[in-house]
Amino acid sequence: MSKKTIAAILLFFLCAADTTIIPLQTRRSTSLTTPNGVFDLDQAVVHSVATRNKHRRNLLNWRKNTGLGGPFSQSSKITAPALIPGKILERRQIEPLSDVANNSLWPGIISVGTPAQQFVVDFDTGSSDLWVLSSDCQSDICSVPGRSRYNVLASSTAEKQDNQTFSINYAVSGPVYKDTVCVAGVTVTGQSFGAATTLSVDFSDIPLDGILGLAFPALNSFNETPVFNLAYEQHKVKANQFGLFLAGNGSELFLGGVDSSKFKGEVEFHDVFNAGSLGFWALNNTEAKVAGEEVVSDIVAVVDSGTNVVYGPPADVATLYEKVPGADLFMVEEGSSLYSFPCESVPSIAFSWGGKDWAIPTTTMSQGLTEEGSSQCIGAVVGLDTGLGDNVWVLGDPWMRGLYSVFDFDKEAMGFATLK
Ligand SMILES: *[C@@H]1O[C@H](CO)[C@@H](O)[C@H](O)[C@H]1NC(C)=O
Ligand SMILES: *[C@@H]1O[C@H](CO)[C@@H](O)[C@H](O)[C@H]1NC(C)=O
Ligand SMILES: *[C@@H]1O[C@H](CO)[C@@H](O)[C@H](O)[C@H]1NC(C)=O
Ligand SMILES: *[C@@H]1O[C@H](CO)[C@@H](O)[C@H](O)[C@H]1NC(C)=O
Repeated sequence: MSKKTIAAILLFFLCAADTTIIPLQTRRSTSLTTPNGVFDLDQAVVHSVATRNKHRRNLLNWRKNTGLGGPFSQSSKITAPALIPGKILERRQIEPLSDVANNSLWPGIISVGTPAQQFVVDFDTGSSDLWVLSSDCQSDICSVPGRSRYNVLASSTAEKQDNQTFSINYAVSGPVYKDTVCVAGVTVTGQSFGAATTLSVDFSDIPLDGILGLAFPALNSFNETPVFNLAYEQHKVKANQFGLFLAGNGSELFLGGVDSSKFKGEVEFHDVFNAGSLGFWALNNTEAKVAGEEVVSDIVAVVDSGTNVVYGPPADVATLYEKVPGADLFMVEEGSSLYSFPCESVPSIAFSWGGKDWAIPTTTMSQGLTEEGSSQCIGAVVGLDTGLGDNVWVLGDPWMRGLYSVFDFDKEAMGFATLK
């Protein structure tokens, strides 16, 4: 029996079992840091461009699917920012695949098709599509050894969606299929997803076969039901809720409830911000604090596990670092303003919704030294106009690692709890 057959059989049992915990692969405590501990500017720029393009696509999908103006304002005047072309990236040195296990990714294994084909995907609360690489993608980026590609001909449950194609930014595109998808013990049938036949240079450094989006259906590119929502519709999960525990070690996604072994005390819930229709996992009335003092208020905060820093509007982020002793503007690069702070006194930066202050842990606040031998570290809070709106912040995983997060579709609420 081949290794592949054994893997398929194991996965069959895994999918048949009544388990809802998806272990996520480990990464170390900081991202965007090179092996010598120095901040990796190239990676940071690649990531900020990818984030802007991702949220641009989300805005366009939300509008197309809801017929409304903007997810954070009823105004139809909000315009999607321009797509940022790939050539920005092409002139940069991008590290080879094997070097970037340290990116901010929370990969776990899913399967697609019958018999099961396995893929390593990132679980992303900041988007709503599922896509995996297609066996028809022949480019160098797709052919990197170790990458899995979906072979539609090898799946007895595959259905091609006539004339439907998808294109996520300029980065990923291809035909749309429906097939059986298994995530840990949860199997959904007739799941729409994209099979990427082209993949841009954005992904060359990312050790993934695809992305599985966990945000609301209104952000879906195919106007179809995303994986978790379909699982709930098909009665495959017990509750319309999932929990995320992101850590250096033992990270997991819990489908259909929360894993109470990972947190202590009550979950602090807040209603998701809803400008006519739900799209992002976002909360309004957010305050940003430095050392317990409120510095910026009336923020709309998008909670996005697919982003490896915390982005805020450049003016807000400047105001924030003014309150941090010893902080300096390090560099403005491709619209990202990067700040440094003294490595020996890591600032406490927190977000609050009137309950507890939920701080970025000191272990994830630094993105590395400004240069070798420096005593200044690059902060995980970065100024960037993501195009989502003047008061919109994106709280990525340096912040999410400080708490247990709960995403509840029934309550239309998000909850946070203190880690054990
Ligand atoms: C990733 O992290 C590991 C462990 O800290 C380190 O050995 C490796 O060099 C890092 N790779 C990169 C590209 O930063
Ligand atoms: C797909 O496109 C072809 C050619 O453009 C057209 O004849 C056919 O009706 C389309 N099928 C569907 C389901 O839209
Ligand atoms: C991971 O967690 C386990 C149990 O909590 C611990 O024993 C182990 O040392 C940790 N490994 C790393 C690399 O931190
Ligand atoms: C904040 O969001 C909640 C939930 O959508 C909404 O009820 C409330 O009116 C919003 N407040 C403001 C000031 O927009």
